[in-house]
Amino acid sequence: MQINAIRGFSDILSEDAALWAEMENLAREVFGLYGFEEIRVPIVERTELFKRTIGDTTDIVEKQMYTFTDLKGDSLTLRPEGTAPVVRAYIENKLYTVPVQRLFYFGPMFRYERPQKGRYRQFHQIGAELLGELAPSSDAEVIQMLEIYLDRLGLKDKTIEINTLGCAACRPAYRDALLLFLKDKVEDLCENCQRRVEKNPLRALDCKSAKCIEATQNAPSTIDHACAECSEHFNGVKDTLEKMAVTFEINPRMVRGLDYYTKTAFEVTATGLGAQNSVAAGGRYDNLTKELSGPEVPCFGFAIGFERLAMLLNKENFNKAKKVVLIALGDDAVTAALKKGGTLDTLREAGLRVIFEHSEASVKSKMKKANKLGADYVLIIGEDELKEGTVTFKDMEKGEQVKTQLSDIIKMVKA
Ligand code: HAM
Repeated sequence: MQINAIRGFSDILSEDAALWAEMENLAREVFGLYGFEEIRVPIVERTELFKRTIGDTTDIVEKQMYTFTDLKGDSLTLRPEGTAPVVRAYIENKLYTVPVQRLFYFGPMFRYERPQKGRYRQFHQIGAELLGELAPSSDAEVIQMLEIYLDRLGLKDKTIEINTLGCAACRPAYRDALLLFLKDKVEDLCENCQRRVEKNPLRALDCKSAKCIEATQNAPSTIDHACAECSEHFNGVKDTLEKMAVTFEINPRMVRGLDYYTKTAFEVTATGLGAQNSVAAGGRYDNLTKELSGPEVPCFGFAIGFERLAMLLNKENFNKAKKVVLIALGDDAVTAALKKGGTLDTLREAGLRVIFEHSEASVKSKMKKANKLGADYVLIIGEDELKEGTVTFKDMEKGEQVKTQLSDIIKMVKA
């Protein structure tokens, strides 16, 4: 019986992989311009790390984690996100001895969600975390970096939504106000939110069920309950974004699905994704390092969903390198092609992507095969070409064929 991949896990085939590589390369370039450096953290961590950071009563921790016991009996979890592991690594490796760390990462994340378009059980993120900056302008700078990155990839029709979630000083009063508002609406919430409303009423605002959306329509907003410090911070973020000409909207309903956020929270949504319209999201998390027994360090970051971003980009604009297939006819031509410094070496040293046709079939079937391989150009070396020091060059799209020098062919392909 054939064995297939498990539900919600996908293979990234070459067409997408080429686009993903471009997305990674550009992230390295753009994030690098802002002083960010790469960090690679493990895919598996202690379960406790995610419980303590993301929050016990979040959907992720309650029902979406791939948790297992290893042979020693330790509870381990496939990382559902990258921020907690990066902060763990930051503390463990004492990266805080440098006043500011700017770190980015790529990689797979795992959440046991109901798979649908744009939502998978293994998905990939590009994330960036700025650790050690408190100023609201640093929130804005990171949001600007994300915007520039998405713009340079050619992402159209995106919206940046921001909100403030308050801090340890103003959150309790907001929580009380929200609880009071929800008091006579508990029955209207979904079962899950009814159960956790006392412990974590904010979850009802993030819940995607129609019942909760309806019941929380006129809920009090975090912005109205922000303390002076949080309001000032929020104003600072907005002012800097305006100075930077970054367009944004305020969404007082957005509370994010993870518990660690303080002050600024933001999300980038895009049309064309259906229900799963959040392509990137993040915010400030000033309490997380302390929560993990490290020093108190203010932090801000975001993560982009690779799959969702890839869905929005036009694959044709990437991986533009032309494909050349080289056909050699007869032993001498094969030697001329394969030998050190031969035709293949010359073409590849010139930066051309060349596939050598190894089979011993007729020219006709070799041409057919080249066509199936998606060749843009086919080069043929036979006895005549060897004698003349030429190569036959066929442009597959135009159907035109010429016999000429290899150096001319390199120029034509590169043009
Ligand atoms: P998040 O909102 O859970 O935040 O995920 C960030 C992005 O990952 C989403 O906007 C979405 O594009 C993508 N994503 C999430 N779940 C799935 C899924 N099941 N399938 C496909 N894509 C998905 C975080 O993970 C935070 N760690 C972000 C952050 C970094 N906050 C501060 N620093």
